[in-house]
Amino acid sequence: MKDKLIVFDTTLRDGEQSPGASMTREEKVRIAKALERMRVDVIEAGFPVASQGDFEAVQAVARSVRESTVCGLARALGADVDRAGEALAEAESARIHTFIATSPIHMKMKLRMEPDQVLEHAVKAVKRAREYTDDVEFSPEDAGRSEIEFLCRILEAVIAAGARTVNIPDTVGYNLPDQFAQLIRTLRERVSNSDKAVFSVHCHNDLGMAVANSLAAVMSGARQVECTINGLGERAGNAALEEVVMAVRTRQDSFPCDTNIDISQIVPTSRLVSGITGFSVQPNKAIVGANAFAHASGIHQDGVLKERQTYEIMSAEDVGWHANQMILGKHSGRNAFRARLRELGIELETEEELNATFQRFKELADKKHVIYDEDLQALVTDANLAAENERFKLSWLKVVSETGETAIASVTLSVDSIERQASAPGSGPVDAAYKAIDSILQSNTELLLYSVNSITSGTDAQGEVTVRLKKNGRIANGQGADTDIVMASAKAYVNALNKILYPVERAYPQV
Ligand code: KIV
Ligand code: ZN
Repeated sequence: MKDKLIVFDTTLRDGEQSPGASMTREEKVRIAKALERMRVDVIEAGFPVASQGDFEAVQAVARSVRESTVCGLARALGADVDRAGEALAEAESARIHTFIATSPIHMKMKLRMEPDQVLEHAVKAVKRAREYTDDVEFSPEDAGRSEIEFLCRILEAVIAAGARTVNIPDTVGYNLPDQFAQLIRTLRERVSNSDKAVFSVHCHNDLGMAVANSLAAVMSGARQVECTINGLGERAGNAALEEVVMAVRTRQDSFPCDTNIDISQIVPTSRLVSGITGFSVQPNKAIVGANAFAHASGIHQDGVLKERQTYEIMSAEDVGWHANQMILGKHSGRNAFRARLRELGIELETEEELNATFQRFKELADKKHVIYDEDLQALVTDANLAAENERFKLSWLKVVSETGETAIASVTLSVDSIERQASAPGSGPVDAAYKAIDSILQSNTELLLYSVNSITSGTDAQGEVTVRLKKNGRIANGQGADTDIVMASAKAYVNALNKILYPVERAYPQV
């Protein structure tokens, strides 16, 4: 009988800390439901003390997820732990994850605390968290650069205080696989009560080794891996869930454990996260990249046609590629539409929302012959965005663009429910549309990123546009999808402007 490897997903917390990846409460709930469907064991839903928005998002996830444990992050401070406990009050199964830094540089320069003080904070926080739930996790932040003696001491103390999971973060992605494996082995051997807690790992990808380090740790006895969809996360990101899960699944000959993940949900969930955050997946990304199962060379194609396993170690269908064969079209009715949304895990809360989305589906079906699941995901994201960002809405857009002539865009925006119009020339249709919008809003923002992806194949496919804007040190992403890519670009721009000009309060306090 193999051990279970616990999958702890932190897309909604560490993933959201990527600049520009912030998500609304509704988006977080939608991702959490997808993670639950995928049978993720623990969903870290946020950092409740960070802001009222974070608190409410964790609370909303705690209310809607029943099958997975919902976790909230807290610094090793009473007020943080209390806030996490409150946010998780309605969870079916709740975990509080408390942390404090233990490396010499963090203790001295950031916390300005002596090691004994750090240990005292950690023990107090764990005890306090146990007043809310039996399921308490402790992380010595920057463990990958901490002194082994102190790590052993603090882990022993927090386990004695009631931590059931001890998580070893390589916070700055500095470790090498053999070193990290050795660290886990040493801790398990030297911490006298190590058998009373599950050892977990949380690896960052600064040197591209997050997955390798996590797997090396699993070989040394770690039985929880913290990871994110598409490897989203601070800086270069975290270990990618899909890579960890598929490595363990594909190499069962080498791993003494397995996960409970429903791997058919991997690709749909990856798409959902990239659609919501605007962080597109590179084509050659393992498992979820568009080329991950594409064979271009003649020799490979020939081999695969004769015997798939010549060049494929996993099956694309197993991880959810090409599962979108259920096609809707302009003759599909409301029930088929609703049923397909349900199968995709999309629950529209009210009849009005369903009606509005069905209307948009019909409009899209008029322009596009067949509607794939990816189109539906985009439609719903787009519909939600439009509903939530009420201050500015794109009511109308006309662009005239002709070879050798300057493009001219005319736009009508609803600004706080007042219709305003403007026209502007530009070097191309998108430039003209953005200038026209800007002449109304005078946003003074810097455009950091503009990218267009085709959602499905074919010239009638919807284009999905992501823009990233910066203003006064803040960054916001916007998305838009449409069969007309100039329209999609304008929608994405307006979406980002709504977020950057009227940001939801958020901050990530550090001890
Ligand atoms: O990277 C890190 O150390 C973290 C901790 C809060 C676990 O994200
Ligand atoms: Zn982290």
